[in-house]
Amino acid sequence: MQLKKLHMLIVAGGLLAGTTFAVVAQAADAPSAADAEKAAKEAAKAAAIAAPPADGAILANTCAGCHGTNGVSAGPSMPTIAGMPTTYLQKIMADFKSGKRPSTIMGRIAKGYTEEETKRISDHLAKAKWGDSVSHANSVMATKVDAAKAKKGKKLVDAQKCSKCHEDDGLTQDEDTPRMAGQWVDYLLIKMQDFKNQHLTIPQPEKMQRAIEKLSLQELEDVAHFYASKK
Ligand code: HEC
Ligand code: HEC
Repeated sequence: MQLKKLHMLIVAGGLLAGTTFAVVAQAADAPSAADAEKAAKEAAKAAAIAAPPADGAILANTCAGCHGTNGVSAGPSMPTIAGMPTTYLQKIMADFKSGKRPSTIMGRIAKGYTEEETKRISDHLAKAKWGDSVSHANSVMATKVDAAKAKKGKKLVDAQKCSKCHEDDGLTQDEDTPRMAGQWVDYLLIKMQDFKNQHLTIPQPEKMQRAIEKLSLQELEDVAHFYASKK
């Protein structure tokens, strides 16, 4: 009973960052010194959780400069990252940071954050709502989705069995596989050209590499239009 009361005090105290010592003082009715010490440790832990170094939403403001507000990109060569699984975002950021994933700029950006900060940013972005490129088609920079190309792309995707992993026309996503339905045409095309480029060792499934290798640049463009046209 007494322990439970103590625990509640610690939790309440922990919510008010920096009140660790006050909590310990209040917990004077603790049964023993060892318990008090344990309580102090727990309070410090709770205070650390309650007082994050910076909020995910605030940290993610940096990303908005390129990836758009809340991760919905308004530019064709920049990927929308809103609503992607936090585990996927954290993994990609870690790969950029370590250099395992080649990048122009993301490696330097990712290096600026601790693992905990990256997690906060990813958690925030994962909760954001996806915005498809078609809805941004009023942007002056937008590449319009071409229905004829998208139709050809659909046939190619079926023939190459891309939907084995990119299910529901690229709508499905998980911790390894990003969403592609409604992503920007240009970005998808750039990414597939990168996958095809043997000199860039982007982490990718072997099956996908073999499938993409079979497609010409023209065909990859059709595929990009197909996925971009989906919502
Ligand atoms: C200065 C522009 C810029 C800023 C700021 C920026 N990015 Fe990027 N991001 C890029 C570019 C460009 C790429 C493509 C990879 C590359 O060339 O670096 C990219 C790629 C990514 C990808 C890979 C998407 C995919 O589907 O493959 C993720 C995830 C990502 N960025 C997350 C973030 C996060 C999180 C932040 C904020 C902490 C951020 N970016 C800030 C420019 C930027
Ligand atoms: C064996 C499963 C698998 C198959 C088959 C597959 N993919 Fe992928 N695809 C993935 C995974 C996993 C990723 C994420 C790779 C990474 O870490 O960047 C990916 C990423 C992509 C991306 C980049 C999306 C982004 O936002 O960064 C494109 C584009 C893509 N795939 C197109 C295709 C096409 C087109 C086909 C068929 C020709 C195909 N994939 C077949 C698993 C697969």
